[in-house]
Amino acid sequence: MRIVLGVAGGIAAYKSVLLLRLLREAGHDVRVVPTRAALEFVGRATWEALSAQPVTTDVFEDVDQVAHVAVGKQAELVIVAPATADLLARAATGQADDLLTATLLVARCPVLLAPAMHTEMWEHPATVANVATLRSRGVHVLDPVAGRLTGADTGPGRLPEPEAIAEAAFALVTTTVQDLAGRRVVISAGGTREPLDPVRFLGNRSSGRQGVALARAARDRGAHVTLVAANLTVPTPAGLDVVRAETGAELRDAVRAAAKDADVVVMAAAVADYRPRTAVETKIKKSSDGSAPVLELVETVDILAELAHERLRTDQVVVGFAAETGDARGSVLEHGRAKALRKGADLLVVNAVGEGRGFGTEANDVTILDGTGEFVASASGTKDVVAHRVWDAVTARL
Ligand code: CTP
Repeated sequence: MRIVLGVAGGIAAYKSVLLLRLLREAGHDVRVVPTRAALEFVGRATWEALSAQPVTTDVFEDVDQVAHVAVGKQAELVIVAPATADLLARAATGQADDLLTATLLVARCPVLLAPAMHTEMWEHPATVANVATLRSRGVHVLDPVAGRLTGADTGPGRLPEPEAIAEAAFALVTTTVQDLAGRRVVISAGGTREPLDPVRFLGNRSSGRQGVALARAARDRGAHVTLVAANLTVPTPAGLDVVRAETGAELRDAVRAAAKDADVVVMAAAVADYRPRTAVETKIKKSSDGSAPVLELVETVDILAELAHERLRTDQVVVGFAAETGDARGSVLEHGRAKALRKGADLLVVNAVGEGRGFGTEANDVTILDGTGEFVASASGTKDVVAHRVWDAVTARL
């Protein structure tokens, strides 16, 4: 395949050298198009040696070959890694002041941008708007990962590892089997917030990443997807019906409404098991006599168990998630088996959490059980890989 690897001027450019090697080792023809600033980080000689192709940054070089049009026209896949805040801004506004941005305007193939920058720049409204604009035009923009940045600082902004970028890029060009075509699926994602007063709530650490990955995978496999989103910390993909929910009660209403004519319901959201009995309308003040308030909690409805037992549609596949830590009473899998039987769902995706696993992380490690607690499949890798394995298990039951 003819791939254009764009490299913008950021410290993460060194990781793109590894990405270039990966692409070359996989047998692809790679034309590297750095920006002028990128060459401050990794020199032309490195790119030329590893790609075995000439490297130019400007539209005024190789004018006889009309490079600013030819490079983009011939590309079958464009990857930009790292994509800096400046590159995102120039791409979003359609500028063509160097060979890379000119190529982005000309290319009609799938385009994947892998941003890397400081957290402040990534979270700035200008960058947020640029990313939204690019995504609305069908450009695939990866989320940077959280972790160590250039200095001692940490936060979202790191370039994903070269393997993850390559995997995401190839996913754009391999056509996904449309085995969910014509199916309606409902997916809940994120974590509920149960209010105590106007400013405080009981919540949890769920980012919604796994649920969003499930929604994206179902969309790519042809499904009509309703995503019931509870306080997500990640953006929602294009091409879905998104219904927002804040509390468990709102999530329950939204899921049940959408589930009435759904073939599949996946409860990936972390729903509070208990909520404060009352949410007061004014802010709870610190007591003057030094006594601590006592919270009275009441149990919430188990939405998954309710859907599984009530069966809004006879032929509906109901999928639950179980976040488990092993304890003195049993291992992760033993707890998962017991939960599969208790919940009555058709499939239960069990994952181990705690000690840096599961919540808010990029990768996941799961075991899929059926309603009797029997092993169906296991999967590990990025949350997108896990999502596809879950849909494999679901489609086998449809
Ligand atoms: N769930 C739900 N409604 C709730 C609580 C959980 O639908 N009120 C769903 C979740 O979306 C998930 C599954 O149930 O699919 C597992 O939730 P979990 O909290 O792990 O299980 P619990 O039943 O709460 O068991 P325990 O807390 O004892 O582990």
